[in-house]
Amino acid sequence: VVELGEGVKHLKVGQRLIGSSQKYGAFAEQVIVNAMTVLPVTDDVTDTDAANLMCAHGTAHHALKQRAHLKKGETLVVLGAAGGTGIAAVQIGKAMGARVIAVCSSQEKLEMAKANGADELINYSEEDLKERIKELTKGKGANVVYDPVGGEAFAACSRAMARNGRLLVVGFASGTIPELPVNLALVKEYSLVGVFWGQFVMHEPMVFMQNMQELFAWYRDGVVRLETDEVFPLSRTGDALAKVMNREVKGKVVVVPDALL
Ligand SMILES: NC(=O)c1ccc[n+]([C@@H]2O[C@H](COP(=O)([O-])OP(=O)(O)OC[C@H]3O[C@@H](n4cnc5c(N)ncnc54)[C@H](OP(=O)(O)O)[C@@H]3O)[C@@H](O)[C@H]2O)c1
Repeated sequence: VVELGEGVKHLKVGQRLIGSSQKYGAFAEQVIVNAMTVLPVTDDVTDTDAANLMCAHGTAHHALKQRAHLKKGETLVVLGAAGGTGIAAVQIGKAMGARVIAVCSSQEKLEMAKANGADELINYSEEDLKERIKELTKGKGANVVYDPVGGEAFAACSRAMARNGRLLVVGFASGTIPELPVNLALVKEYSLVGVFWGQFVMHEPMVFMQNMQELFAWYRDGVVRLETDEVFPLSRTGDALAKVMNREVKGKVVVVPDALL
């Protein structure tokens, strides 16, 4: 903390915190953040791990807990399962007692998902996603789908949902925002559920804090672990973004101010 806004009493100058800069962007040495949505970080957590845990795991946790109400024994399909939020969803899905089917575009990414707890693997570059989900669920379909990818993968999943299922709309990494023929939701009696972690943090700061406490406890107990693909200096932010855009990242990339490296 460099400086506190008027009326902020629960924080101190010099304190080490994590926060998310929803409004002003975060590719900077200093940012202004909402004092209600920052958390103290203890010395046993590195800067890289703290940055990694907050957004990706925070999103997957909120999606599976508050939005999907994922239950023990349910089948969870995770698209882009070796990506930042995807690998977090695999780990958190297992922590919540689900059977996790990881979906990735390469064998290397699938192996990483498996090492992070995935029970079943689908390579959607080579296999028919809808048919494989149906096979692996004995024709019933998925109880919950976590979709940060969109496009054709969303379309396949929208036809492989179980009755009372929850199809989570998390992001559109494929670049295509899909459309849903809503008769599918009617005939299968499933729900399409939007996820927007940034809105959740702003509107429900107390629940967000409870989530983060649970996540840090899981982190300390080894229930969730952080996969940092590469750490980039701030001056090479463009290279970090290019790696994401080229679909080369496994886990997260983290950008750190040059002076701290
Ligand atoms: N709703 C929210 O609150 C929230 C919060 C955080 C992030 N997001 C959004 O969720 C999306 C995913 O975030 P993330 O951190 O998981 O990203 P990420 O680490 O880049 O992972 C996305 C995954 O999408 C897959 N993918 C498919 N087509 C792709 C393409 N053309 N380019 C890049 N990746 C592609 C890749 O897996 P395969 O190669 O295995 O297909 C990749 O691992 C982003 O759009 C992000 O903005 C939303």
